[in-house]
Amino acid sequence: MGGLFITLEGGDGAGKSTQIEYIEKFFKEKNCVVVCTREPGGTRISEMLRNILLDKGNAEMEAVTEMMIYAAARAQSVREFIKPALARGEIIICDRFVDSSIAYQGYGRKLGEMVSEVNSIATGGLRPDITFWLDIDPKIGGVRAAKTGEPDRLERENLGFHYRVYEGYKKIAEKEPDRVKRIDATGSIDDIRKEIRSYLEELGTR
Ligand code: TMP
Repeated sequence: MGGLFITLEGGDGAGKSTQIEYIEKFFKEKNCVVVCTREPGGTRISEMLRNILLDKGNAEMEAVTEMMIYAAARAQSVREFIKPALARGEIIICDRFVDSSIAYQGYGRKLGEMVSEVNSIATGGLRPDITFWLDIDPKIGGVRAAKTGEPDRLERENLGFHYRVYEGYKKIAEKEPDRVKRIDATGSIDDIRKEIRSYLEELGTR
């Protein structure tokens, strides 16, 4: 199997990390070279930008500034890490990508279309081959996430913000059904795995 770019999306507490581990194992068992990364992050510079974005001390950050820093972190990781790995034929599993910016900054912060424009510069047109959207009601996700530690700057946003993000994901999934696979994240870990596995097996036969 050649290079493959897989992304996972969803609100806080959707259980992305558990499924990323599973997808990694799935491909390792097939002897593929597979690398996991996250956004914002994955490179030294992108991780520095992540700290700025999530620092709860940066409460005065403007929405446009926020959008541009997410895009800057992405521009760096796409060029330094993701594209070269794909060119070597590796499988990349990325925890969040542009859809997060569309959902959080486009819908959550109400910045709209400009988010796509800025991000097409950031990615240079790179798009995931497949995206799993772990769909969970923001109220349930928020309760789950609260159990895992101190909320970061984005997690501190009110429920209205998180519902707008949720609507954003719904719209993206409706618009791009071939790429974005909605997975019911309220199901058992095993059921979620099975669903993801069936999509991965389909990919293998493409
Ligand atoms: P994480 O907690 O899943 O690692 O993600 C960090 C936070 O950043 C999460 O609350 C979602 C948010 N985020 C955006 O708002 N825009 C983006 O483009 C990305 C990648 C993440």
